[in-house]
Parts: sequence; C-alpha cells; structure tokens
Amino acid sequence: MEEPEIVAACTGADVLLPTVTDRIGAALIAALPASVRLIANFGVGVDHIDLAAAKTRNLPVTNTPDVLTDDTADLAMALILAAARRLGEGERVLRAGRWPGWSPTFMVGTRVTGRRLGIVGMGRIGAALARRARGFGMEIHYHNRRAVPGNDARHWADLDAMLREIDVLSIHCPRTPETVGLISAARLALLPRHAVVVNTARGGIVDEIALANALKEHRIAAAGLDVYDGEPKVNPALLALENVVLAPHLGSATEAGRVAMGERTIANIEAFAAGRPLPDLVNT
Ligand code: 8YV
Repeated sequence: MEEPEIVAACTGADVLLPTVTDRIGAALIAALPASVRLIANFGVGVDHIDLAAAKTRNLPVTNTPDVLTDDTADLAMALILAAARRLGEGERVLRAGRWPGWSPTFMVGTRVTGRRLGIVGMGRIGAALARRARGFGMEIHYHNRRAVPGNDARHWADLDAMLREIDVLSIHCPRTPETVGLISAARLALLPRHAVVVNTARGGIVDEIALANALKEHRIAAAGLDVYDGEPKVNPALLALENVVLAPHLGSATEAGRVAMGERTIANIEAFAAGRPLPDLVNT
C-alpha cells in the first residue's frame, strides 16, 4: 500500500502492523489517526520505520527478534557455500544443457574450510552464523564498535584492518545512516581476490555498483545476496553477473519462522492491549 492507503486503512485502528515492504516515514506517522497507539512490526529490522517520528508522537514501536535468528543465519551460511562453490552458476549451466562433463578444471570455486570469516555486526544473527561457520572449520573474526563480552571470536574495532585479513565477509548490522554504503568500493578493494561477500542484512549496506564492478573485474571471487537497495528491483549490473548468487529476501522465510514472527507480533499487541510492558519495544 502507498502512504495515503495505509493512513486510510488505519481509520479506527489501534495498531499499525507493517512489514518490511511498508515505508513508515515521518509524514505517514504524523498523518496517522489518533486511535493508532502502537506500531507492531512483523520482522526484526525497523529501518523502514522512522523511530524518532514515532517517539515524537508517543507511539511505541515493537519488532520480532530471536524467532528468525536461526533461519537467517542458515541462509547466510547457505549463501556463503553457494557463492564460494558456484552453485547458482553450476545449476544454470546444467539446466541449459551446457555442461561439458566433469573435468579437473571445470567450475572450481573457493574452499571454505580453514578460511577466515569476517562478520560485520556480532548481534544475534551474526553470532548464530559464527556457530554454524565454526562447524565448517572457519576462523571467526568480527567488526563491532565494541567487543562483545564472552565472545571468543577475534574482535576488530577497525573494519578496514579486518577486511585485509579475511576471506569471507558477511553483513549482519542494521541499516542506519552510518551503515549505508559501509562496504564501499575502497573497502571492497581491501579484500583478497578469492574473497566471497554475503549480505543478508539490508540492501545498501554494501554499495551494489561497487560490488558489481568488483565481481565483474574478478577483484573478488563471488557474492551471495538476499537483500537489495530498492527491493524488489534488483540492480541490472548484478543480474548480468554469473559470480553472484541472488536470493529474493528469503532470510526468515521458513514456515516455522513466519508463524513464530506472527506469534511474537501478537504477543506485543496483547501486552499493549493489556497495558503490560511491551516485550520488544524498540524506540525506548
Ligand atoms: C522479514 C527481515 O521477512 O525481519 C526482518 O528484518 O528482513 C525479514 O526476515 C521481514 O522483515 C518481514 O517484514
């Protein structure tokens, strides 16, 4: 729905329940009927909601953490493996009847075992990916402003320094004004030629044009993406490349995950209705 439709649909409503596809900006929030007293987001990421504008109107915003952590980390691991081992490209060749048969040099990819994984954002999903990647024999590094207590992976306060040392980069930070364009052309240039870049967080954190150029010129080996700037449109420069695996925002897309997200959203609405503290309040 477009902004006026959302506002109109909220007539007489107590709760606005958006998903990631709804842009809940300051103008929309200001135009909401006074009956709306909660924004209960279906999903963990809230970059599509103007939290400050909601706060100004005394509108609490809730999300659905935890319940999609494992599913999203599974998809990040799947993209690491698929991109490193050229699965998308291999399947396309086979289905098109262009498989010339086994040969020692046919479609060789990048080994994952023993490689260094750099995680940007060691939150719930980053930590869940680290657990999986350890099982694949990877060494875990992460970039956060501060070290996460009790986490034995190697912490790098300096993102650029970490990028020089890793083989696989996976993004798990929220999209904020500070993280848009974080993985820029200059930062991609710090990665080794065999590097794999994965983004299951939000589009725009990795500069898509810079990524497409690096992939096209084989300055990095491969990428796996689940999120895009301006979804559901995908940059044609990415669509034209063989060495990027492209998923349509499937991070939390399991039956159990989506049911759990619904239940968590309902739990917040029920707490609100009963006047209890909101379990997943984001704009405190
Ligand atoms: C959800 C997501 O499917 O929770 C998130 O932040 O990106 C997705 O996994 C989406 O938010 C549903 O609204």
